[in-house]
Amino acid sequence: MQTLRTTSLEVRNNQLWILDQQALPQQKNWQPAHSVAQLVDHIHALRVRGAPLIGLSASLLLALLAEQGATRPELAEALNVLRAARPTAVNLMNNLDRMKTALAEHDYDAALSAEALRLVAEDKQLCDNIACAGSTLVKPDSQLLTHCNTGGLATAGVGTALGVIAYAHQQGLVKNVWVDETRPLLQGGRLTAWELGELNIPYQLITDSMAASLMARGVVDAIWVGADRIAANGDVANKIGTYSLAVLAQYHGIPFYVAAPHTTLDRLCPNGGAIPIEQRAASEVTGVAGSFGSVQWAPANAAVYNPAFDVTPAALISGWVLDTGVVTPAQVQEGIFQP
Ligand code: MRU
Repeated sequence: MQTLRTTSLEVRNNQLWILDQQALPQQKNWQPAHSVAQLVDHIHALRVRGAPLIGLSASLLLALLAEQGATRPELAEALNVLRAARPTAVNLMNNLDRMKTALAEHDYDAALSAEALRLVAEDKQLCDNIACAGSTLVKPDSQLLTHCNTGGLATAGVGTALGVIAYAHQQGLVKNVWVDETRPLLQGGRLTAWELGELNIPYQLITDSMAASLMARGVVDAIWVGADRIAANGDVANKIGTYSLAVLAQYHGIPFYVAAPHTTLDRLCPNGGAIPIEQRAASEVTGVAGSFGSVQWAPANAAVYNPAFDVTPAALISGWVLDTGVVTPAQVQEGIFQP
C-alpha cells in the first residue's frame, strides 16, 4: 500500500502505525499496529480512539493483512474481531461493512486496499464539509465550549466539532474555546488542549464541573460536540458528560450542536435507548494514568460505575451538522434520519 500519514495514523513499509493518544501530549510515540491483536489492544486502551479513526484504523489493517497474504477466511475472522473492539462508535461497523463487501470481490486483496484508502480520503473530505457547514452557525466573537476530543487526532482530516471551531477561527469568529477536561480519561485536557495550542486557537481548560457556572455567567455562546452514534430519532451517544452539557445548555438558552460525518449515523437504531454503551474499568475512575505516571486516590476496593458514553436526547439538540449540511430539529422530527 502507498505511504499514508494522518495526524494519528501512518502506513509505512506496508505496516500500520498509530500515534499513542494515551501518551500525548507529553510524548509522541508511534506504536506498531501490525496485527489484529495489537490494534484491538490499542483500541481497548484508547491509544487509538475517536469514532472515525477507529473505523479507519481497522480498515487499513485489514487491507494490509490482505496484502501480506492473509486468506479470505482469515480476513473474515479478523473483521469480526475488529468489529467487536468498541461497541458504541458505529463508524467502526459502517466502515467494516464496506470492507466486507470488498472482501467478497474476486480480487479481494486489491479491493480491500482500494476501499481502505477510499475511506481515509472520504473521511478527510467529510471533515472539510462538516467544518464548512458548521462554521456558518458560529457568530462573531464567539466563546465556544467543547467536550472530549473531536479533532485531527480522532479523524483523518481536520476533525468534526473541532474542525468547525478551527474553520470558524480561521474566519476570525472565535474569541475563546472552553475545553472540558473530560473525566475520566481526560481527552479534553490532554488532546483537545494540545490540538488547539498547535492551531494557535485561544482556549481555556476547565474541569467538567465548571461548565455550568460559565453558562450562568453568560460566557458560553454555543456548545459543540462530536458523536459516536446518531440514532434514527436524532438521539446522540457521545463521551460521558455530553448529556449534562446539553441539559445545562437548554436551561441557559445556549445552542447545542452535534458535528459528525454520515458514517456516525445508524438509521437502523431507533433511539438512544438501543445504543450499546461501553462500560469500562474501575481503575479509570479510582485514579488516573498516562505518560505522566499513575495514581490511585480512591480505596482499592471502591465500587465504581464507569460508562464511557451517555445519550443526549434529540429534544436537547439545536442542530446536527453533517457532511451533507445542517440538519434542523424539524427535519429530524419529520424523519430525515429514518431508514
Ligand atoms: O472514548 P473516545 O475518546 O473514543 O470518545 C470519543 C468521543 O466521544 C468523540 O466525541 C467522538 O468519538 C467523536 S470523534 C470525531
